[in-house]
Amino acid sequence: MRTEFEGHPDDIILASSLKTGTTWIKALVYAILSSKQYDLNDPAYPLNQVSPHELVPNLEIQLYGPFSNLNPESVSLFPRVFHTHVPYQALPDSIKSSGCKIIYLPRNPKDTFVSMWEMIINKLNNKNAYASKEEALKSFCEGVYHSGPFSDHVASYWRERSKPNILCPTYEDLIADPVVCIKVLSDFMGCWWVKQDDLSNISNKCSFESLSQIEANKTGELNLRGLSLRNDSFFREGKVGSWKNALTADMNAEMDKMIELKLSVVGDFP
Ligand code: A3P
Repeated sequence: MRTEFEGHPDDIILASSLKTGTTWIKALVYAILSSKQYDLNDPAYPLNQVSPHELVPNLEIQLYGPFSNLNPESVSLFPRVFHTHVPYQALPDSIKSSGCKIIYLPRNPKDTFVSMWEMIINKLNNKNAYASKEEALKSFCEGVYHSGPFSDHVASYWRERSKPNILCPTYEDLIADPVVCIKVLSDFMGCWWVKQDDLSNISNKCSFESLSQIEANKTGELNLRGLSLRNDSFFREGKVGSWKNALTADMNAEMDKMIELKLSVVGDFP
């Protein structure tokens, strides 16, 4: 990430590795913050019109990277909300020292791997990306993953989660009880205007079923400089445990070994 980005104490930074539910957490945080001024069911409401990736841009890809085509002033929310895929130790000092709020979304590594495999092979139709699923899983367990080794990425934020400005709701927490998680997120961000009735509205608006059926998410594209990604590639099943139908017993054993070796240090990880 170029050094121009200056974090501000009021900023909210969403962080995640890939395929852990980035699209969902962007939508949820956007909906919580914007519910102060918008009717979520108005057809003109931004989440009904454009992808969550347009509303909460990624720092190193959409704003400051070689593919970037936006600038930080284009972020319309206040407080400003940005997303990043970089691990904690690689965040700019201005983020780490500003005390701004950081929300990290981990996900079970088995479901994360399957989600990435399915996106690359079936959604993006890149059939030659890996020699085989076994090879892809081996690489994943050895630490070859976008934005750095998955286990290190998770551990980098998970270790920091006792700090008062860091919250780590897991994808599994969100699936188990989205309304409770939305309340926790709202309280963490200081969104006093979010009342009990709003919690289920936000949950419904951002549910897999609702979000994946928005026209922009079905047919639109995320356009970066020289690169575009179909928005529907960010939606597949939206479930916990889909690895059970996708991994063989051997693959599962290899994942368990990696989890034991590299993730047991971070304690009660799902
Ligand atoms: P699956 O492939 O397991 O279905 P990311 O946004 O980080 O790329 O993560 C994509 C994963 O999050 C995919 O998982 C996708 O289906 C799931 N997802 C996207 N939107 C979701 C939502 N609103 N609720 C639950 N899961 C969602």
